[in-house]
Amino acid sequence: MNQAQYRDLYKFSISQPDTFWAEQAEKFISWHTRWQTVRQGDFTTNDMTWFAGGKLNACYNCLDRHLGKRKDQTAIIWQGDEPDTEKHLTYGDLHKEVCRFANVLKDLGVKKGDRVCIYLPMIPEAGIVMLACARIGAIHSVVFAGFSPDSLKTRILDADVKIVITADEGLRGGKTIPIKHNVDKALESCPDVKTVVVVKRTGKTVPFDAKRDKWYHELMSKANADCMPEVMDADDPLFILYTSGSTGKPKGVLHTTGGYLVYAAITFKYVFDYQDGDIYWCTADVGWVTGHTYNIYGPLANGATIVLYEGTPSYPDFSRFWQIIDKYKVTIFYTAPTAIRALRREGDKWVTATNRDSLKLLGTVGEPINPNVCEWYYDVVGNKRCEVVDTWWQTETGGILITPLPGATPFKPGSASWPLFGIVPAVVDDKGNEVEPDKAGRLVIKQPWPGLMKTIYKDHQRFVNNYFKDVPGCYLTGDGARCDKDGYYWIAGRNDDVIKISGHRIGTEEVESAFTSHPAVSQAAVVGVADEIKGQHIYAYINTKAGVEHTDKLKQELVQHVRDVIGPIATPEVIQWTKDLPKTRSGKIMRRILRKIACGEDESLGDTSTLANPGVVEELIAEHEKTK
Ligand code: WT7
Repeated sequence: MNQAQYRDLYKFSISQPDTFWAEQAEKFISWHTRWQTVRQGDFTTNDMTWFAGGKLNACYNCLDRHLGKRKDQTAIIWQGDEPDTEKHLTYGDLHKEVCRFANVLKDLGVKKGDRVCIYLPMIPEAGIVMLACARIGAIHSVVFAGFSPDSLKTRILDADVKIVITADEGLRGGKTIPIKHNVDKALESCPDVKTVVVVKRTGKTVPFDAKRDKWYHELMSKANADCMPEVMDADDPLFILYTSGSTGKPKGVLHTTGGYLVYAAITFKYVFDYQDGDIYWCTADVGWVTGHTYNIYGPLANGATIVLYEGTPSYPDFSRFWQIIDKYKVTIFYTAPTAIRALRREGDKWVTATNRDSLKLLGTVGEPINPNVCEWYYDVVGNKRCEVVDTWWQTETGGILITPLPGATPFKPGSASWPLFGIVPAVVDDKGNEVEPDKAGRLVIKQPWPGLMKTIYKDHQRFVNNYFKDVPGCYLTGDGARCDKDGYYWIAGRNDDVIKISGHRIGTEEVESAFTSHPAVSQAAVVGVADEIKGQHIYAYINTKAGVEHTDKLKQELVQHVRDVIGPIATPEVIQWTKDLPKTRSGKIMRRILRKIACGEDESLGDTSTLANPGVVEELIAEHEKTK
């Protein structure tokens, strides 16, 4: 697509959205029954329904309809943690496995609308189980296998899950992860889970509850490979995926079948310009939304060949990503800025030792990418031959909203660039008025699109309050941004109490609750501080209970405690002891001040005289000097 074509189609998509979306839905998706209305509801009613009356099955769209042409085409190239472990599944193979597991689920009593929790490493079974759920109309809730038993438990309970699909162990970077053990621990507080299906990954002997636990391979060996896909309403839920917000527990973002799948399919095609014969590799774990939309649903709906990689960028050495690209002749590569930064730090030699001739397009997602890092990605990884797409989106948005398009968007490294079809972004001030070009403000989206989440599971009011209350008539993203005179968006990052550590989204309140669940802690306040590799890291102000001694040993214990409660992604980097926290007269913690002190920006603290306890500021600064 060239720039003029992009502009024409964009104009059409936002001036006649219903016609545009109907055309796309027709082109990209096979419908069992055509819809009656393209869209009902908007950002004032907040009960949007896409393709009402339409019927389809997501799994059918990802598999069955490709069998005529692609039965023997590879669907998944799986690369294990060790370089010599791999598996190739054709569309025919994948279809059979998925049908078998769909029958297994049915035999275990899983019905349309039931929630199935998936807690698996990056192995083909993760995709198989997701698609099997979609096939029978069960709602999957994938939980990242790096989350702790406690985080898993919260998600199982919130979604009223009765069955968990897991593995004996995970394997990443040469180290094992005790996945089954984590499930056993989580289920101590989930009495409603009556069945656990366990995939054998490493073969390690794990505790097995004869009544509750079943081996995946045993069930599969007896299962029939014929299974009709359930006919679903376009508005039926496809999955729930938990993500962090500013406050409260992680929320269950619910995506529906029709709107989500249309959006996943078209964005995959346009953004990555996928052509027959391309080998596409997205490094995201299936536990995150990128793994859902751009590892499974988007690519498979387009009949693509994907690489699924179990391991890390640095094992056995820092060349691993580039070696995999050469080995499988990857043409499209999609990863996160944190991985690019970490590999760039190790020096060009790890990259230049490989060939990377197959590459055509490079993508990034998850957090802002610094222009220098983006240029390195273009120059060194892509040999100045491959366009870079910096794709901005969120768990809630279902798919990419702002991104360059290959061939259409002149490169400005560090900018997510232009809106995709049907997307109308704006930058507004605190009162909700649009600001002038180049002025910073809050990023909102003014028009509905089919990929947007339907609701927050069991909490529609939170959905309305979170995204539509502050700026009426708009979807509030929670990000800060500016738009330059050429219409390019520059995303600054979150402007709420969400932080991004290595691209992973964590709410400061979750980390604070983890701290205060430790017996030594009285109060905790957590802020995000800029980090060269991780993007941000956790800086915690901890106020202990009376009589507690402030030792390094206690610091280590608290760090371990937070890891145990949430998972290693939430590992605090710095702990600063504090006697008190800066509070307003109404008792609200002034995070703005804490953030500035943690970042060493205490010259620009602003007016602190309105604090209930202004004296605390000097003390905090002095303690920060000692801590950092
Ligand atoms: C937040 C959403 C969407 C897939 C992975 C993250 C940040 C995401 C970019 C980008 C700058 C980005 C935003 C957003 N973000 N992509 N290209 N440039 N920031 O999904 O975990 O829901 O996080 O990630 O802050 O709000 P998520």
